[in-house]
Amino acid sequence: MDSGLVQSSTFILCLLLRLHCTSGYGDEDDYRRKVSMELNPGQTEPSVGVDVAHVRAVGSNDTLHFLFCSHEAPALMLVHTNSSSSNVHINWTAFLSGNYSGSLRVEPESSVQFSSAVVFTRLWEYDDMNDTADPEHVAPSSFFPSYELKDFSWKDLNATVNLTTHTATLCGRNNSKSFMSNGSLCLAFSAFESRGRDSVWPSLLHNANSSQLHVWLDNVIPRSNQSRFVLELQSVSSAEQKGQVDVLKSIDDEYTPSIFKVSQWVSSPSNASSEILGYTQWKPVAYRTAHPKFEDATPCRHSDPVLVSQLPPSGWVRALFRDGLQTSTLNITFSIAGDPFYNVTNYLSWSVLMGLGNPPQDSFSSLVLTIMAVGLGTPLALILFGGVGACVFKKKQQPQGYEPIN
Ligand SMILES: *[C@@H]1O[C@H](CO)[C@@H](O)[C@H](O)[C@H]1NC(C)=O
Ligand SMILES: *[C@@H]1O[C@H](CO)[C@@H](O)[C@H](O)[C@H]1NC(C)=O
Ligand SMILES: *[C@@H]1O[C@H](CO)[C@@H](O)[C@H](O)[C@H]1NC(C)=O
Ligand SMILES: *[C@@H]1O[C@H](CO)[C@@H](O)[C@H](O)[C@H]1NC(C)=O
Ligand SMILES: *[C@@H]1O[C@H](CO)[C@@H](O)[C@H](O)[C@H]1NC(C)=O
Ligand SMILES: *[C@@H]1O[C@H](CO)[C@@H](O)[C@H](O)[C@H]1NC(C)=O
Ligand SMILES: *[C@@H]1O[C@H](CO)[C@@H](O)[C@H](O)[C@H]1NC(C)=O
Ligand SMILES: *[C@@H]1O[C@H](CO)[C@@H](O)[C@H](O)[C@H]1NC(C)=O
Ligand SMILES: *[C@@H]1O[C@H](CO)[C@@H](O)[C@H](O)[C@H]1NC(C)=O
Ligand SMILES: *[C@@H]1O[C@H](CO)[C@@H](O)[C@H](O)[C@H]1NC(C)=O
Ligand SMILES: *[C@@H]1O[C@H](CO)[C@@H](O)[C@H](O)[C@H]1NC(C)=O
Ligand SMILES: *[C@@H]1O[C@H](CO)[C@@H](O)[C@H](O)[C@H]1NC(C)=O
Repeated sequence: MDSGLVQSSTFILCLLLRLHCTSGYGDEDDYRRKVSMELNPGQTEPSVGVDVAHVRAVGSNDTLHFLFCSHEAPALMLVHTNSSSSNVHINWTAFLSGNYSGSLRVEPESSVQFSSAVVFTRLWEYDDMNDTADPEHVAPSSFFPSYELKDFSWKDLNATVNLTTHTATLCGRNNSKSFMSNGSLCLAFSAFESRGRDSVWPSLLHNANSSQLHVWLDNVIPRSNQSRFVLELQSVSSAEQKGQVDVLKSIDDEYTPSIFKVSQWVSSPSNASSEILGYTQWKPVAYRTAHPKFEDATPCRHSDPVLVSQLPPSGWVRALFRDGLQTSTLNITFSIAGDPFYNVTNYLSWSVLMGLGNPPQDSFSSLVLTIMAVGLGTPLALILFGGVGACVFKKKQQPQGYEPIN
């Protein structure tokens, strides 16, 4: 098949169907950053048990700092500066003595434009006896005592950090709880130099302004045969966080089969402008196995965000953020009625993207576009070009001499 014809067919198809046709890589948002990663900046001891992995992503005129932290509740923070030489400074003496406030700074402080954090605070488990998968309508007595993630002991990041691929995995558990004894909650962090997609489902689209957390709950012994889980997360932002999560239509393609929606929770300047400064974004799907097949997908839902009066229980978040900044909390509820309970696979995973500026937008993949173009666009292209050709041909046949008179 002539590639020129495919391209023009695709173009016509996009025009006709008003599709968002910026598929493939290397298109318009081909923004790259120079990314480097370090563990525990400024700390000389190899293991201090309160790790912070720092990613510095330098753009042409700015820097994005991502901080993935393991003190108390696990957290991911983002700081955007308008300087390409800003850096992170930690006063370890102050931090380790519990004097958090101000012990983590991004300097020069005048260059900071925007900062935000997402913190995983709690895991709820309930006995879904009636199989409604609706924690808001089950009897309160169906809830088991929650897992407080701030009380977990987190493994050293040192063992899992890969400074080359800009990834790190944090796993934790509370050993004093027998049903947690062989299980763990893990968070895999990745930062990116440019646009791309994760190879594992839900294969979220990312770009150089985002980082991703893949969260999973593995091998926890459920406290009932009908147990389902709810993950509570909290978010802090230097800008105003929207009071609701937006759910946008998305595309069902080979990257995330059968999922037609994408959820995003954005921050904007408080002057009511529509500009988006930062976001968290996810697809409303979780997976029930580590190497999921189609049938291992299970939907998830979110609650509306609720304002809370305190910063989340993370030492590093309290080190970076002043008191008085808004914190919101929301729940991600896994599964729907009729889907298998946790006991069947003892596994659940979910992914979330956090980033600066506008959230990445899904578009049809090149493969799908090509198939559609060949199937639908080509006949159209032939008709249109056929028509144009005929006109040109006719025009050439016309006698010359109809010059405009000036
Ligand atoms: C990333 O952020 C930079 C700086 O704000 C901006 O210029 C660029 O367009 C953004 N790129 C994407 C893909 O959002
Ligand atoms: C970076 O800053 C310089 C001067 O301050 C400006 O001319 C240039 O357009 C900026 N580049 C980007 C990508 O914002
Ligand atoms: C670090 O904090 C300690 C105690 O809070 C303080 O005495 C010290 O001056 C600080 N160091 C720096 C370099 O700011
Ligand atoms: C906590 O930090 C502040 C400011 O750095 C300092 O003035 C104070 O002495 C510190 N307190 C302790 C107990 O280290
Ligand atoms: C960075 O932002 C600050 C205020 O947010 C501003 O005063 C400063 O001029 C900016 N610097 C550059 C290089 O744009
Ligand atoms: C299950 O449903 C029954 C009947 O609708 C109701 O009485 C009961 O409270 C429900 N149980 C739970 C745990 O929600
Ligand atoms: C386990 O949780 C309990 C309370 O929920 C807490 O007191 C304890 O310190 C935690 N243990 C560990 C090892 O984190
Ligand atoms: C991890 O710890 C070992 C010593 O325990 C140290 O040699 C190594 O440099 C550390 N790795 C990183 C990435 O900090
Ligand atoms: C980091 O990842 C790269 C690519 O997967 C691999 O070649 C390298 O061995 C890894 N390094 C460490 C320290 O695990
Ligand atoms: C944890 O795993 C070990 C070895 O696989 C097993 O002997 C033990 O019974 C398990 N503990 C629980 C609480 O299931
Ligand atoms: C899980 O719970 C269901 C419902 O009570 C039960 O029928 C099933 O046998 C359990 N499966 C496993 C693997 O324990
Ligand atoms: C999250 O779920 C728990 C348990 O159902 C509930 O107590 C809490 O109010 C929920 N939080 C929000 C923000 O909806």
